[in-house]
Amino acid sequence: MRRMGNPNRRKEHWGSRLGVVLAVAGGAVGLGNFLRFPGQAANYGGGAFMIPYLFSFLIIALPLATSEWALGRRGGRMGFHSPLGIYYAVGGKSRFWGILGGLSALTPLVISMYYIFVEAWCLVYALQYLGGLLEPLGLGFSLLDGVEPGLKLGAETGGAEYQGLFERFIGANGDGSLFKGGLSPLLLMTLACAFVNFYLIYRGVSKGIERFSKLVAPLVLICSLLVVGRVLTLGNPTGIEGQSLLDGLGFMWNPSRDVVLESGEVVHRTIWSSLANPEVWLAATSQIFFTVSICLGATCTYASYVRPDEDIALSSVTSTAANEFCEVALGGLMAIPPMIMFLGAQAADKFGSSFSLGFIALPNVFERMPFGEFFGFAFFTLLFCAAITSSISIVQPTLALFGDSLNLSRTACVGLTCLVVLSGTAFVCWFTKDLAALDAFDFWLANFAPFLGGIFQTILIAFVWNISSLRKELDRGALIRLPRFFGFVVKWISLPYLILIFAFWCYKNLAERLKGVAGSQVAQLSLLYMAGLAVGLLVLSVIVVRKWKREESAK
Ligand code: ALA
Repeated sequence: MRRMGNPNRRKEHWGSRLGVVLAVAGGAVGLGNFLRFPGQAANYGGGAFMIPYLFSFLIIALPLATSEWALGRRGGRMGFHSPLGIYYAVGGKSRFWGILGGLSALTPLVISMYYIFVEAWCLVYALQYLGGLLEPLGLGFSLLDGVEPGLKLGAETGGAEYQGLFERFIGANGDGSLFKGGLSPLLLMTLACAFVNFYLIYRGVSKGIERFSKLVAPLVLICSLLVVGRVLTLGNPTGIEGQSLLDGLGFMWNPSRDVVLESGEVVHRTIWSSLANPEVWLAATSQIFFTVSICLGATCTYASYVRPDEDIALSSVTSTAANEFCEVALGGLMAIPPMIMFLGAQAADKFGSSFSLGFIALPNVFERMPFGEFFGFAFFTLLFCAAITSSISIVQPTLALFGDSLNLSRTACVGLTCLVVLSGTAFVCWFTKDLAALDAFDFWLANFAPFLGGIFQTILIAFVWNISSLRKELDRGALIRLPRFFGFVVKWISLPYLILIFAFWCYKNLAERLKGVAGSQVAQLSLLYMAGLAVGLLVLSVIVVRKWKREESAK
């Protein structure tokens, strides 16, 4: 097989099998596991969410993540590391697949733009806990800056002020507020996070990403176990009926429960009424995409650096299982049960979104918990570390795109990637009112696009590359043999399920969503910005694919 790709780039590989598993698992384990998952579970009824979630895990996460590993390594063997090159090579050097691969890089690119911003929130919260509960830490600022002197926090005042603190901290009260009077501390922290990301990426897959993932994995695990251990030993901390540990765990796993509507009316949701709601299925499937990093470009880019004859079958199952353990066993335990135990079941309706849960409900909880400052520090530290390993994984496809397609030095590619990512981060940091830009980026690229990408990627794998080539790739150097029905599941179960869910979502929700866009200037600007990036990627992909085609025919 003749290698294609950029001949001027030095070949990069992972240093060890453990390294690649930790890097991919580290890329997958992130804010999605510890913030998004509990937020979604709380929002969609705890146990009722878990049924479609586990179903999606079996028929989407396992088959598609494994196929993406195979796709990536196959592309890597042909000399490519970006979705653009990998799709082009595996899709039989077709223009269509190459351009589609180039466009698919939009998803990780846009997600990385706001991910780095949220990473900075976690860092600031961790530092604040280190310095005493939301007290200054010699950083020259505090979350309390500008708050009335003498204001009592948390337990004594009902904790409502955490919302105000959080909103002021992230600039949710007005666009541009983080830029007033120079760069705000949060912006400085965002730049610091970007620097860490790009430094690690610059160091390369083995010396940067792999080494860092090996260092951070035990830290994330230790901090998680500390927080989970604390939660499991709390008993019934408030003494209020219905707020014991068992009630907290029951909320997470019991599929029927009472829900308090905004009007105050209490409705009993049975398992059947929840399962009949298509939104729960959509939410569960999109959570699976996000958390396992399927069609986010990261898995196939990372897999392209696996050596040609090294196992990918066991590695993919191991990293997907590790991600699931962190999500369900750790993420699910450390956020929802303590919220129910300290704030009551109605808190799940009030704080049923990822950010409210993580940055408003949990600080409330830590304030009321014995040694809460320490556990708050552990929680936000693990969140920050997990977020860093994820953000480097989603920045990597853009770097690989420039590496595969432009004749630039590695330093120049890192610089260019940094510029593009930071332009979007600046956009999100400016339009912070009600987090409208972040929400638009998140909705279209983290919820909507992965479905579309998943459908096309599965068609590429199952029908263009074909299942027997997929199996051959997976069997190369494999330490386990995947069951024969694996290919059947990818082709005839995962793909139809994705198409069905996506079509159903479009039918039910697209019109309403577009109406929302029509009513919000920032949502329109965000779409325009994303469309601009998409056009840029399209032009680059067309030029590069034409160049590759010309080179092929000249040979
Ligand atoms: N998979 C990454 C996360 O869960 C993106 O945060």
